[in-house]
Amino acid sequence: MPLVTTKDMFEKAYAGHYAIGAFNVNNMEIIQGIVEAAKETKSPVILQVSAGARKYANASYLKKLVEAALIEAPEVEIALHLDHGDTFELCKQVIDDGFTSVMIDGSHLPYEENIALSKKVVEYAHPRGVVVEAELGRLAGVEDAVNVSAKDATYTDPMQAVDFVKRTGVDSLAIAIGTSHGAYKFKGEPELDFERLKTITELLPNYPLVLHGASTVIKEFVDTCNQYGGDIPGAQGVPEDMLKEASKYGVCKINIDTDLRLAMTAAIRKSFVESPSNFDPRKYLGDARTAIKEMVKHKIVDVLGSNDKL
Ligand code: G3H
Ligand code: 13P
Ligand code: ZN
Repeated sequence: MPLVTTKDMFEKAYAGHYAIGAFNVNNMEIIQGIVEAAKETKSPVILQVSAGARKYANASYLKKLVEAALIEAPEVEIALHLDHGDTFELCKQVIDDGFTSVMIDGSHLPYEENIALSKKVVEYAHPRGVVVEAELGRLAGVEDAVNVSAKDATYTDPMQAVDFVKRTGVDSLAIAIGTSHGAYKFKGEPELDFERLKTITELLPNYPLVLHGASTVIKEFVDTCNQYGGDIPGAQGVPEDMLKEASKYGVCKINIDTDLRLAMTAAIRKSFVESPSNFDPRKYLGDARTAIKEMVKHKIVDVLGSNDKL
């Protein structure tokens, strides 16, 4: 089937209290691992391309690789999404290229500027059948948001979220409740602001929310990286139970990039050490693809609950 938008995916996920995985793609093996996992578990999936990924692979390659995935897995619903679009021009370009979903990330801007930019993207995207995600609030770093006033300064304000959605017309909203990008999300005990999530869900009923920075930072991969020459001390992600809990509220899209990077790096490091005489990239990239596939299957079945939904 052709690429789809996230509209139906989110409606079903909301009603069924599960979430759709949005996985960042940078190369062929990552796309193959994710799509094979989605196919085997009968799950819809979002493939997302960041500005950095688009720059790395150039504008055409990733789109063409995703088109190949549509041919190889015609039964899988796949949405192609721009992750963290930072300008109207970039959003316009990928919409013109055939992406079915874009994120405009104006979360660093003053509130009214975030509204104006997000609205401008919606006005370009909607007549072309493309859906838009925006972000309100700042994703905390490890040091941020340790006390209530810091939380209020950085996390998504529930009343503002209602006003933002109404005034921009965006189709989904990324919120800040304590997650952060990368492998170092918490210093002490992991904590998300579920009260805030509950309030936002109540104020925006039937509206899909997005959780960025949602990798669990799988210990097995971190340990394998460290065992085979890596140096990734003190990495910590969002516990699986918290993600499951979030999808009981309004969270319909869960973003995962770091776990893909860790799966790939762990498999390649291990392969290099265990097969020192090998220099065929198909061996270690093949190992990485298998690791990604198994990891994504685990996410779909045991964390997101999006299996058997095609
Ligand atoms: O949220 C950011 C994603 O992990 C993408 O990262 O900009 O390095 O591709 P990137
Ligand atoms: P992680 O760094 O937790 O994988 O988050 C990825 C993300 O939010 C991409 O937009
Ligand atoms: Zn993100």
